Amino acid sequence: MNPADLNSTSVPLLRNQNITQKNNRQWKNFIKHCYILITILVLSAPIAFSLSKLIMVARHKSPTVSNLIRVFIPSSKKLKTTTEKNLPTTKQLFKYSTETIFPPAALCGKRIVGYFAEFENTALTRKQLQMLTHIIYLFAIPKNGNMTFGGERSRRKFEEMKNEARKANSTLKVMISIGGQSNSRSFSRLVSNETSRNVFVNSIVSFVQKYDIDGIEIFWTWPKYEDANNYLIFIQELRYAFIELQKKLNRKEDYVISIIVNCYDNQLSNLMGFSKFVDFFNIYSIHYQSRQVGPSSPLYGGGSRNIDETMKYYICRTGQPSKFNMMVLFHGTFWKGAELPLRNDSDDIFKDQNSAKGGFAVRWRELLQQKWDMSNIKFHNLTKTSYMWIPGSSLFLTLEDEQSLRVKNRYVADHNIGGITMWTIDQDDGDHTLLKVVSSAELCTGDEKNTIKFKCE
Ligand SMILES: *[C@@H]1O[C@H](CO)[C@@H](O)[C@H](O)[C@H]1NC(C)=O
Ligand SMILES: *[C@@H]1O[C@H](CO)[C@@H](O)[C@H](O)[C@H]1NC(C)=O
Ligand SMILES: *[C@@H]1O[C@H](CO)[C@@H](O)[C@H](O)[C@H]1NC(C)=O
Ligand SMILES: *[C@@H]1O[C@H](CO)[C@@H](O)[C@H](O)[C@H]1NC(C)=O
Ligand SMILES: *[C@@H]1O[C@H](CO)[C@@H](O)[C@H](O)[C@H]1NC(C)=O
Repeated sequence: MNPADLNSTSVPLLRNQNITQKNNRQWKNFIKHCYILITILVLSAPIAFSLSKLIMVARHKSPTVSNLIRVFIPSSKKLKTTTEKNLPTTKQLFKYSTETIFPPAALCGKRIVGYFAEFENTALTRKQLQMLTHIIYLFAIPKNGNMTFGGERSRRKFEEMKNEARKANSTLKVMISIGGQSNSRSFSRLVSNETSRNVFVNSIVSFVQKYDIDGIEIFWTWPKYEDANNYLIFIQELRYAFIELQKKLNRKEDYVISIIVNCYDNQLSNLMGFSKFVDFFNIYSIHYQSRQVGPSSPLYGGGSRNIDETMKYYICRTGQPSKFNMMVLFHGTFWKGAELPLRNDSDDIFKDQNSAKGGFAVRWRELLQQKWDMSNIKFHNLTKTSYMWIPGSSLFLTLEDEQSLRVKNRYVADHNIGGITMWTIDQDDGDHTLLKVVSSAELCTGDEKNTIKFKCE
């Protein structure tokens, strides 16, 4: 994602669906539910947050122009000051740092994966890194046959992240995600024949060698049915190329390959084939709603499927729960002018968007700054999600908080799923409140790694 793209969006992000909708029949369903919302995610960076800031601040006092501009212009200098400000200072964290921190999930080979994004404005602390088994940088992109970063700022940010990660823990895997929503549009072409695939594979392998990282993720949103076969051949060739590189460099550890798969309407017919060559799949289980106001990642229930159905689908299709990570979201989404039928916990919590404005993204760490009253957060028992519904001002906010994340941790443990991936750890607060909850998940339940805990038909 190129920051220039971000700045061109100045309307509520859901309106993008008019622009991006395509006619392909199979595609349509997916676009309705997933694609738009990836747009929200990936584009969410400065604009949506600024809009949300605008709206929220306006309710209390008018923002100064410089307040707003600060959000729009990420500069590396600012990056430093933000970091210093966000450095953990609480006693609690000080105590935390004297303990050995590592995710207990690592003890049985399960994964705690953090995305770290070029479009965010905070730097990482070592403590955050020590709470992970894998860190994945968003994004690198293929350009004229070579891999590259979105810009010099992005490259520098990545290098800082990598250096810090190497100091944090030698077992922490450092990866880069390749593609992203707009940049993966070329992938169909790049994997389409042997020549172009070779160029793509070689560019990735040289990049991995040059930057000395442990692996890559392919962030293709989304391959179509007719891409699936070429995609699989590409992943297979990439795996063989990594094996060669490993030999050449005398490297002990295998390189890591992951791919992202969507929350439903999966177009990869040969999941078992992919499973042979990838280390894991990151399931994009974070945005199930588009034209509806309601929880963005319901565990159960929901207007259009839910995480439980997604996990069951992938795990029953492959028989390999250990290969899948469930994704959780560190920013909320809110709507203004919403109506809900919701009066109590047993009520339906989804409603057509109608005239509601949104959804606007708000980072977890911004909720307090924006004066959201966190005591209004409630837990919806049917969908197992946290939300805020303020009928007086017609605001509906869906988000993950400590309570909903604990429920998701438990779900992952109970279903013997391979790990949890966070989008993104830099949207957390300075105390790493959400990361601590996910990182402490007790995922080692003593089950064999591919024991299936779903009733597969
Ligand atoms: C890509 O990399 C190769 C080898 O490093 C180099 O020769 C070539 O000029 C690069 N192409 C572009 C467009 O940067
Ligand atoms: C590094 O990570 C491994 C496994 O993830 C863990 O066992 C070890 O304690 C960690 N070391 C430190 C210093 O955190
Ligand atoms: C392979 O695909 C590339 C990219 O689409 C294209 O430029 C090239 O002509 C194709 N080559 C063959 C042999 O089809
Ligand atoms: C919740 O609302 C429904 C109707 O919307 C009602 O039937 C039910 O009794 C209410 N439950 C409680 C606990 O108030
Ligand atoms: C919440 O839902 C569970 C089933 O998922 C049910 O057993 C429990 O009684 C519910 N709790 C409340 C307070 O409604």
